[in-house]
Amino acid sequence: MYEMKDEYLTGIEFIDNEHRRLFEIAEETYQLKNAEFIPDKYDQINDLLNELKEYTIMHFSHEEEYMQSIGYKKLFTQKTQHQAFINWLEEHELEGIDEEYEDQDAVIDNILKYLTDWLVNHILYTDKQIPASESNS
Ligand SMILES: [Fe+2]
Ligand SMILES: [Fe+2]
Repeated sequence: MYEMKDEYLTGIEFIDNEHRRLFEIAEETYQLKNAEFIPDKYDQINDLLNELKEYTIMHFSHEEEYMQSIGYKKLFTQKTQHQAFINWLEEHELEGIDEEYEDQDAVIDNILKYLTDWLVNHILYTDKQIPASESNS
């Protein structure tokens, strides 16, 4: 369902590796959600969603450090987009998927979809513009 694709590659190795990991965690969450007869499934899903959130926040700071280090002029735009997304992640308390929810699988699907749609869009239109090293861009 969720995977890194060639079209997402930025050509900057650490960024591509971190993006790949984000898709892996999303996929793992999705698979677990669909798996049957797993004890404590929703606890594990909550852990994965939390990991996804933490990893995303860490990834943003790595990316920002890199952009800063090469004097990238669109750093501010990136920071603004990252922060808006962190706000969304925090508002949605990903760790709080509750077994009492009427349709918890749908809640998980919606979160994964929103998160990965945002990520793909941000990678394609924003991260892919980041230059591999100091350049004129
Ligand atoms: Fe990124
Ligand atoms: Fe970014």
